[in-house]
Amino acid sequence: MRDPRAILQAAKIIRHGGIVAFPTETVYGLGADAFNPLAVARIFEAKRRPYFDPLIVHVANPADVKKLVEEIPSNAKKLTERFWPGPLTVVLFKEENIPDIVTAGLPTVAIRMPNHPMALSLIIESKCPIAAPSANPFGYLSPTTAEHVREQLGDQVDLILDGGPCPVGVESTIVSFLEEKPRLLRPGGVSLEEIESIIGKVKISPIEEERPSAPGMLPKHYAPRTPIVLDWNGKNLDIYKGKKIGLLAFQETKNHLKFHSVEVLSKKGDIREAAANLFGAIRRMDALNLDLIVAETIPEIGLGRAIMDRLRRASGNQFIDSSLRSE
Ligand code: TXA
Ligand code: MG
Repeated sequence: MRDPRAILQAAKIIRHGGIVAFPTETVYGLGADAFNPLAVARIFEAKRRPYFDPLIVHVANPADVKKLVEEIPSNAKKLTERFWPGPLTVVLFKEENIPDIVTAGLPTVAIRMPNHPMALSLIIESKCPIAAPSANPFGYLSPTTAEHVREQLGDQVDLILDGGPCPVGVESTIVSFLEEKPRLLRPGGVSLEEIESIIGKVKISPIEEERPSAPGMLPKHYAPRTPIVLDWNGKNLDIYKGKKIGLLAFQETKNHLKFHSVEVLSKKGDIREAAANLFGAIRRMDALNLDLIVAETIPEIGLGRAIMDRLRRASGNQFIDSSLRSE
């Protein structure tokens, strides 16, 4: 629903324990009153999300964080002052009042203030912080349009607010402040370089932790049904002869002929445009019944780090060379 009255209706649904899909600048979220455990449980059911995977609590005002956490370390304050509203999530030690279902029983909570007028109005009108994961079935790609949400979760949610395509297109950057040094848990819409320019060097979690502190850090996540392999960049694809292959290219490519279909993320090679198009492009390819999607790698600078992170997880870390070895 695009009607402005829809926000008031959505807020009413949230206040009465319902669940609403709503746009943010990163991806669409599936929200409920963060203080209503039963409503939050409906999110887990709709997404088939395991209960060990905690949710992000969305606020409309930085001052609201005080009510949710024990204290705000100075580096966390610096980052939120600089990047909120925006694609940054901070993980802090939580206040007792946040229901365990939101935080998966952890002593910590992830909080973000989104930069999208509809999301902010929804939180304000609902008069409560909104717990929301991305509005996709667990493990699948995040939705970047209302249509993506409707296709996959349409019959599970009480209402979908349509704010058009999400301008950033990859999820928020998650930084935790539980140790002495801040730690990047998930690269996202705010680049590592931007973060380090404000608070200096941060720790970076390795991609394959034994027990990931954020399931979004699982090696296979954000994945389409079609297998993806990385690192094409002109390599020989003879091994896949006779297969229907799609190419996910970063910028304009002359290699259309070899492929059943080609998605170009940004004709002019603009990294922001590429990020905004990423999930939509993979979804379109996923609908074509291809045998395989090969994805070009890009330099891990700026938003390139978040894009490569999602591609690696979508591929389960399969590179063309490693998939050759396993045959
Ligand atoms: O851009 C975004 O962050 C979007 C929009 C809707 O805000 N949300 C989003 O939520 O991507 P979700 O649930 O799909 O991903 C949140 C990630 C998960 O990997 C979760 O494990 C992690 O955040 N997370 C949540 N609370 C945490 C906590 N207390 N400690 C560590 N990781 C946490
Ligand atoms: Mg998600």
